[in-house]
Amino acid sequence: MIGIDIVDLSRITLTDSFIRFILTDSEQAEFENRKTDKRRIEYLGGRFAAKEAIFKATHDKNYLKYSVLNNTDGTPYIKDHPEISISITHDGGIAAAIVMIT
Ligand SMILES: CC(C)(COP(=O)(O)OP(=O)(O)OC[C@H]1O[C@@H](n2cnc3c(N)ncnc32)[C@H](O)[C@@H]1OP(=O)(O)O)[C@@H](O)C(=O)NCCC(=O)NCCS
Repeated sequence: MIGIDIVDLSRITLTDSFIRFILTDSEQAEFENRKTDKRRIEYLGGRFAAKEAIFKATHDKNYLKYSVLNNTDGTPYIKDHPEISISITHDGGIAAAIVMIT
């Protein structure tokens, strides 16, 4: 199965309630390391797209079950779910993610 999603970053707000709705604790730690609002919105929008893409591939809407983290080289991966491959992009006011279950 595959899943894809795109997010309009102008709709992303850096409110505590939205951050906690989308991000797991470990994602929140990575989010805090992004030092500008622009990078934080890209991170949050990218994770939102990632969780929706995961839902489309798995039909599991439990956003907080999946931690989408970065390896030291920046490559995204889903903690404890090596069967799900993921790619994220953000540019020009949008974020997008695609996942594939192998
Ligand atoms: C990694 C790279 C592809 C990111 O591209 P970018 O246009 O800066 O950024 P994008 O918005 O498309 O993607 C950002 C996302 O890519 C992912 N990413 C970062 N490094 C990555 C890597 N090494 N491999 C795969 N995905 C990566 C991350 O998920 C990141 O988002 P996040 O930090 O919010 O999780 C780019 O910086 C790079 O290093 N390219 C190497 C090839 C190169 O030099 N090309 C230029 C030749 S002209």
